[in-house]
Amino acid sequence: MLSTLPAGTGRPSPTTTAAPWWRDAVIYQVYVRSFLDSTDDGIGDLAGVRAGLPYLKKLGVDGIWLSPFYPSPQHDHGYDVADYRAVDPVYGDLTEFDRLVCASHRIGLKVLLDIVPNHCSSEHPWFRETLAAGPGTEARSRFHFAPGRGADGSEPPNNWRAMFGGPAWTRVTEPDGTPGEWYLHLFTPEQPDLNWRHQEVGDEFEQVLRFWLDRGVDGFRIDVAAGLFKHPELPDSEDPEADERSRDSVNPLAWNQPEVHGVWRRWRAVCEEYTAGDGEHRLLVGEVSVPTAREHALYVRPDELHQAFFFDLLSAPWDAAAFRTTIDAAVRDIAGTGSTVTWVLNNHDQVRTVTRYAGEPGVEGSGLGAARARAAALLMLALPGAAYVYQGEELGLPEVLDLPDDVLTDPIFSRTGSRKHVRDGCRVPLPWSGHASPFGFSQGAAGAQPWLPQPSWFADHATDRALADTSSFWHLYREGLQLRRSMPQLGEGPLHWLETPPQVLAMVRGDGLVCAVNFGSDPVPAPVPGAPLLASGPCPDGVLPGATAAWWITDLKTA
Ligand code: NOJ
Repeated sequence: MLSTLPAGTGRPSPTTTAAPWWRDAVIYQVYVRSFLDSTDDGIGDLAGVRAGLPYLKKLGVDGIWLSPFYPSPQHDHGYDVADYRAVDPVYGDLTEFDRLVCASHRIGLKVLLDIVPNHCSSEHPWFRETLAAGPGTEARSRFHFAPGRGADGSEPPNNWRAMFGGPAWTRVTEPDGTPGEWYLHLFTPEQPDLNWRHQEVGDEFEQVLRFWLDRGVDGFRIDVAAGLFKHPELPDSEDPEADERSRDSVNPLAWNQPEVHGVWRRWRAVCEEYTAGDGEHRLLVGEVSVPTAREHALYVRPDELHQAFFFDLLSAPWDAAAFRTTIDAAVRDIAGTGSTVTWVLNNHDQVRTVTRYAGEPGVEGSGLGAARARAAALLMLALPGAAYVYQGEELGLPEVLDLPDDVLTDPIFSRTGSRKHVRDGCRVPLPWSGHASPFGFSQGAAGAQPWLPQPSWFADHATDRALADTSSFWHLYREGLQLRRSMPQLGEGPLHWLETPPQVLAMVRGDGLVCAVNFGSDPVPAPVPGAPLLASGPCPDGVLPGATAAWWITDLKTA
């Protein structure tokens, strides 16, 4: 039975809240390389992000997270950092960075940077020093160097595998030309893991945080935030393939070690110092992949990270029971401890929702995938906590599945030879306008092509079309964000499920917002009579069609 609630009297009236801004913020992830290219070299840059700020303001997000723009040999598109205190010339320079922060703040947008503390680039001065310094030196102790196994040391020190394929160890040639020690890298060989038990590593990162906080940034997205510490003895793993398999199965000897919490306490204290200056909280959001919501909650204790991405919603299949179990676990184990849940449906590492929910592998963007992605977005925006939107999500961009092998840049492809987990398809430069590539991403005058080719069907998703079409994804996100902003009580507080048929989820939030999602294909009676406030698709009065979500205001006092 679907319980039916009384209809409300219209749109909610704005209320105010004293909660810190980050608890219910919606942040837009800017993948700088693919956002907007101001120099016509086919690669997005910081000046391009600045030019796109009015677009983001209009969309209604609270801030931006910038993917790494530091000097880097780009073996993993900036997640291999050679200098943590500068801007790669391909993206701009510090002056342009300062302009971007200033312009963002002027229009009320927060700016988060992506910080990569688990590993650096093999071009970082610290790692270069290790190669010249040789075994047993102080320089090597900032990383995980170890002799190999076997009579001639030609076997890696343990059986760990790298996330991107192959062994997690690479052997170096010593300064005298002989084959030497091995170093640990959970990702590519060009991303050596730092040894966080070395005092200087923690000290250096504290200085890096201060460098950017002094330049006015509002916080950091922390890469691999459940990593950093490894089991001190680096023993063999009982399940060496775990790290290669998926996000949900990680090598417990290399991830989620208890010492990592001390780092987040230290970083939180640094953020608090800066908060004291202007009263505006600085934010730490961690990329935390751990097996359970309960372990996840440990990362967002009051003196640790403010937020940690809760990836279980992103991994959940399009299924009402799976979504409900995931949401319940998060609300009980994370929000229930007083912290906030940070929801995410898309990012630069995952197949985009429109394609993921399409149901058939190999379908770029069927109408069904788009309908479900729209419904999922409305659900996410109605949940208690914070949310992140990945660029292009607001345009309903599908994954680009048919990029030819020779344009793929993801190290996962070069290291595994398989296209299965390849991430280039969600990183194709955004379409802004026009009917042909570069779709306004670059001006195209210098003849430079976007760094990944854009398919011709990107025209259907260009921002100019999206803005002109009130039924577009863009308008759905905008309206959802506006309503959410007008109902700050949505950000915190309880979530009550209504009784529904198994293929439907319906919840009551705040002072009477009802959000219902029909995961099935057949229409069901709507839980609230009358026209919804907002719906992800056509929604006649009293009916909730399949693959559709809608919001209503109900008058709970008369319920
Ligand atoms: C997670 C980032 O999101 C991903 O893009 C990157 O490749 C790995 N961490 C390694 O830094």
